[in-house]
Amino acid sequence: MHVPTLISRKRDGGELSAAELRGLIAGYTAGEVPDYQMSAFAMAVFFQGMSPAETAALTHAMRTSGECFTHRTGHPPVVDKHSTGGIGDKVSLVFAPLVACAGCWVPMVSGRGLGITGGTLDKLEAIPGFRVGISLTEAAAQLERLGVVMMGQTERFCPADKKWYALRDVTGTVPSIPLITASIMSKKLAESLDRLVLDVKFGSGTFMRTREEAQALAASMREVGREMQVEVQAILNPMDEPTGRTVGNALEVVEALECLEGGGPEDLRSLVLDLAEAVAGVPRAVLAGWLDDGSARRKFDQLVEAQGGAPADLLRLGEIHRAPVMREVGAPRDGRVTLVNAGRIGQAALQLGAGRERVSDGVDFAVGFDRLVKCGEVVHRGQPMCRIHARSVGDCEVAAAMVEQAIGVDFSQT
Ligand code: URA
Repeated sequence: MHVPTLISRKRDGGELSAAELRGLIAGYTAGEVPDYQMSAFAMAVFFQGMSPAETAALTHAMRTSGECFTHRTGHPPVVDKHSTGGIGDKVSLVFAPLVACAGCWVPMVSGRGLGITGGTLDKLEAIPGFRVGISLTEAAAQLERLGVVMMGQTERFCPADKKWYALRDVTGTVPSIPLITASIMSKKLAESLDRLVLDVKFGSGTFMRTREEAQALAASMREVGREMQVEVQAILNPMDEPTGRTVGNALEVVEALECLEGGGPEDLRSLVLDLAEAVAGVPRAVLAGWLDDGSARRKFDQLVEAQGGAPADLLRLGEIHRAPVMREVGAPRDGRVTLVNAGRIGQAALQLGAGRERVSDGVDFAVGFDRLVKCGEVVHRGQPMCRIHARSVGDCEVAAAMVEQAIGVDFSQT
C-alpha cells in the first residue's frame, strides 16, 4: 500500500476500495502511517466526500481496529442511543437506566466534551468515585447483572477513531459527513447492537447548522447501519436552545436526577421518551411510568454503585461541587423570551471552564448555568433569566455579558 497514492486519488475525487481503507486504518492504528498523512487524507475526504460504500468500509475498518463487545447467545435486545452533540444534553444519563428497566442491555460507550459540546463521561465523573474506565470483561459482567454500563472508550476499543478524532480536531477536519459517520458508527457498532437510535441535532449549538445537513448525516448513518444489519432510527431535533435548564457537568447531573424521579424540565423528559420509545420495545406510557415511580432512579443508583460511586452522594452533588461565585442575570425588560441561543450559552459555559478547548484539557465540574429561561416564557424586568456558577468574579462577569447577548426578550410580546 502506497499511502501518498491513496491520498492523491481521494484528493482528485477518486474512490478507495474496502481493502485500501482497511490497510490505511490498520497502518495508522499500528503507528506505521504517520499523523501528517492521516491529516492530509482527512482533508481530502473533507473536500471530496466518500461514496456510501467507502463510508461503510471505513466504518467497518475502524470498528475492527480494536476489540468489540461479544454478547452471549440468547442475550436480550442490545440497544443504545447516540446524540450528535448539543448544549445541556444530559439525555444519556436518563435514557440508559430507563431502557435497562425494559430488560434491554445498554452497553453505552460515551465520549468527553469538546469545544462547546458537553460529554457524558465528564458529567458521570462529576459523581465522586464513578469509574468510566472499565474493561469489556467487566462491562459484560455488569450487563448480565444490571443491564446497563456507562463507560469510556478503552485503549483497545476503536483505537483508530481515538487517534484520528483527536487529530481531526486540530486539523479542521471534524465537520465532514463521512468522517463523522465512520467515527460515531464505528464506536456504536463495536457495542454489537441490535438497535440504535440517533438524536441528530441541528441549529446554533451543533456542528450541523441546518436541517438539510442533519438529514444528510442521518441518512449516511442509517445507510451504514443497514449495511451492518443494525436497526437504526434517526430523530432530527433542533438545538436552538439548550436542553433543559442547566448547562455544566454537576448541574446537569442534578437535573438528570430530577428527570429520573419523574420531574425536571418537560423538553428533557419528552426527548428521553422519544428516544427510549424508539428502541426499548415497550410503550411510551410504560417508560413514563418507570420515571414517575422511581424505577429508573433506582436503576441509576445501582449503576452508580456498580461503577464505584455512592448513591448517597447524588443527594448532595450541589454541595460537593459548589462554585465559589453564584450570580443571577436579570431580564433587561418585561417581555417574552424569543431566543436562548444554545451556541452562545455553550461558548459561555466553555469560558467558565465547564468544557474543554483541546482533547487534553480538564473540565471544572462545578461551573455553568442553572435556572435558564426557556423560549416562550414571559419574564419581568429584573427577574432572573439564569444563575451563573463561576470560579471567580471575573469569570462570572464575562459569562454574564455573554448570557445577556444570548437571550432575547421581546417587549412587544407579553
Ligand atoms: N463525535 C464523534 O465521536 N466523532 C465525530 O467525528 C464527531 C463527533
